[in-house]
Amino acid sequence: MTDFLRTVLRTDRCLLRPWRAEDTPLIPPVASTRDISWNTSFRFPHPFDETAAKRLVRWSRDGAGEDKWQFAVFLDGELAGSCGTVRGEGVEAHTATTGYWLDPSLWGRGLATEVVTELVRYMRDQTAIEQLTATCFGWNPASRRVLEKTGFRLEGVRRGVVRKWGRTTDLWIYGQWL
Ligand SMILES: CC(C)(COP(=O)(O)OP(=O)(O)OC[C@H]1O[C@@H](n2cnc3c(N)ncnc32)[C@H](O)[C@@H]1OP(=O)(O)O)[C@@H](O)C(=O)NCCC(=O)NCCS
Repeated sequence: MTDFLRTVLRTDRCLLRPWRAEDTPLIPPVASTRDISWNTSFRFPHPFDETAAKRLVRWSRDGAGEDKWQFAVFLDGELAGSCGTVRGEGVEAHTATTGYWLDPSLWGRGLATEVVTELVRYMRDQTAIEQLTATCFGWNPASRRVLEKTGFRLEGVRRGVVRKWGRTTDLWIYGQWL
């Protein structure tokens, strides 16, 4: 765990490192937008206030490097978003679920593809996790594209199992073996 908390990853444009308590006030200005929350699970509320930010940082450090590999993503020294994985439970403990989000002002520049590519490389080279899973909502073609570009393959679609803010959609399930 200690080693993981010292990890720094670099891509062409971004720096990735585990969340720190001092990041807390940086998170709401980037994360508090319906554009992100609309496409993410209950862990990502809207509005995303300081309490939610504290909860995110605390959650990310609980089991870090053992059951969780969560990174803050910085672009030009500014918080840009996050990516990370969480180990599966029980019979799925050799797998991990992948998630990511970016400041909407940065969308469409290939940044998610860049950081998820590095996350996948890190999981393959530095952990014993054997398979990565990712899910995305039916109304999120950009995320599906990111997964396809970073080596994930569609494994199935659960029809109508996502209901958010009164609207229902499918859950697309992706996977890749490392
Ligand atoms: C998903 C997300 C991380 C993508 O970030 P990004 O930096 O814009 O992604 P990239 O630029 O690397 O790639 C996006 C791809 O989706 C494509 N895309 C974007 N909008 C699209 C749309 N409406 N329909 C089809 N493709 C679309 C882009 O053209 C690009 O593909 P390309 O390189 O083949 O042209 C960002 O939109 C986000 O943070 N969304 C909210 C949170 C979220 O959805 N997280 C994932 C939950 S599974």
